[in-house]
Amino acid sequence: MIPKKIEEAFNRQIKHELESAYLYLSMAAYFDEAGFPGMARWMRAQVQEELTHAMRFFKHILERGGEVKLQPLSVLGEKWDSPQAAFEAAYEHEKFITGTIHELVKLAQNEGDFASNSLLQWFVDEQIEEEESTLKIAQDLKLVGGDGRGILMLDRELGQRTFVLPPELAAFYAQGTGANP
Ligand SMILES: [Fe+2]
Ligand SMILES: [Fe+2]
Repeated sequence: MIPKKIEEAFNRQIKHELESAYLYLSMAAYFDEAGFPGMARWMRAQVQEELTHAMRFFKHILERGGEVKLQPLSVLGEKWDSPQAAFEAAYEHEKFITGTIHELVKLAQNEGDFASNSLLQWFVDEQIEEEESTLKIAQDLKLVGGDGRGILMLDRELGQRTFVLPPELAAFYAQGTGANP
């Protein structure tokens, strides 16, 4: 059985991950409107990834007999002045998410909840990647500055990104926890 405190904190984290999806969805719209289809595609892939982050917590709560309580999202939809500003905002947001994951690790360890701690270690590693990728793109955009050709090349490169649903989540989407056949 999942400890009550962890259940509450994981429900809050589902909200944070869905807020991430919501933020990146508004960035995807901004990039399409501003004429950067590659960056829009990169962000649409990121939206799908954030949904899987939420689903990892969702699945964990259910598998351990807890209750999923979805909460209203804080509105994050907005517009940005430039692609660089958008990716800088994405990087700032990921730093915030890293902080929330680290708080969850402390909580799981205080509660002696080894199962949650194990799930969270995946997120600790994932946040390194999330911060690194958004920071790298923000820095590349800063480097090319106002050079239209440079931005175009970067847009093409980012448009190569594809999203693959991790097998463990594909199985959960298809079959649920398997607890109630
Ligand atoms: Fe995330
Ligand atoms: Fe990622």
